[in-house]
Amino acid sequence: MSLSLSQKAANLKPSATLAVGALAKEMKREGKPVIAFSQGEPDFVSPKSALDAGIEAINKGYTHYTASNGIAELREAISAYYKKHFNLDYSANDVVVGAGAKPVLYAAMAAILDPGDEVIVPTPAWVSYVEQIRLCGAREVLVECSDTGNVPSIERIKAAITPKTKCILLNSPNNPTGAVYGPETMKGIAKLALEHDFIILNDEIYERLVYGNAKFCEILTVCPEVKDRTININGMSKAFAMTGWRIGYAIGPAKYIKAIGSIQGHLTSNACSIAQYAALGALRGSDDTDVETMRVAFGKRRDLVFSILDAIPDITYIKPDGAFYVLIDLKKLLGKKHGDVVLTDDATFCSDLLKTKYVAVTPGSAFFANGTLRIAYANSEDEIREGLRRFAEYVSEIK
Ligand SMILES: Cc1ncc(COP(=O)(O)O)c(C=O)c1O
Repeated sequence: MSLSLSQKAANLKPSATLAVGALAKEMKREGKPVIAFSQGEPDFVSPKSALDAGIEAINKGYTHYTASNGIAELREAISAYYKKHFNLDYSANDVVVGAGAKPVLYAAMAAILDPGDEVIVPTPAWVSYVEQIRLCGAREVLVECSDTGNVPSIERIKAAITPKTKCILLNSPNNPTGAVYGPETMKGIAKLALEHDFIILNDEIYERLVYGNAKFCEILTVCPEVKDRTININGMSKAFAMTGWRIGYAIGPAKYIKAIGSIQGHLTSNACSIAQYAALGALRGSDDTDVETMRVAFGKRRDLVFSILDAIPDITYIKPDGAFYVLIDLKKLLGKKHGDVVLTDDATFCSDLLKTKYVAVTPGSAFFANGTLRIAYANSEDEIREGLRRFAEYVSEIK
């Protein structure tokens, strides 16, 4: 008994996206021609301004601890970013920088959740939300969105509210669906938060990656009344192709931001000093040009993915407006056979696809979307063509 793991650790599910990504990398190392659509990781090199600033930080010897909430210049640059893009007024003290949006999100949950609290999570949802909620001793209340166009129904959210509701977790553009919530949805959710007095944890890490006629809607621009109860989570990983640097941040009311900084001070102390300077370089030097170049490239890849998927029978998907994911419905194929393998569920489908065609994708069950798989198309066009050619071939072999 005394040597046992904690209940929290024992109940934790490892990150499915990291697990598939690790397996794909391992198979690549063994020389297998793997094409990985598994990890949400842009294939671009980080902006030159980030690389230069990182090198300069090393050469200047900025290699020591920083303030646990991040260097002041970076927090100022982030508040300036929110002013420029959303016309929102935040001071540098309303920003806390951490080692990626993922740990910042966890620190934010630790700052607001007590055991027994409930968090409303629209699903399909990113793999880490529910595990982080549980690590905080709180409970997730899932609200299904796959039959409402992957956008939450306000009625359903309302029905999920109880006296224990502490917070709602929003993620638009969404991982894994790519859905972008419009102003009416944001206003509806904000109204419920005011009426029922809960916090909005708003993960907008994909806000720059929106395509076609769709527009990103920042909740505070359509409902400024919820500013005192909204914690925005954002970071450098996706729009700036800086996944490995590990810089994310929270921006919101100083009360919550201070608590997040204190929690982080006991965990990581601070995000890597060099990476913080690199992020500052990226925000100062590449804001519109590099991000836009990547967004346009992702937009082209998205169209390419649609054109190939549309020709594959027995799969369906809701066209995503943002991020770089497509969630594909496999239900018509499940229960059938590929070779000797009975495709009982999405996990079996994905593992057989990887073993036989060397195409890595993530089972939708990891996102509370059973019977689906997620393709992350942040790959080159050549990889997309070849990977989806193999996927189509796999589907054609299912009997
Ligand atoms: C919805 C969402 N939020 C947060 C993150 C975490 O990003 P990072 O920790 O790299 O900043 C990810 C990464 O996949 C994500 O998809």
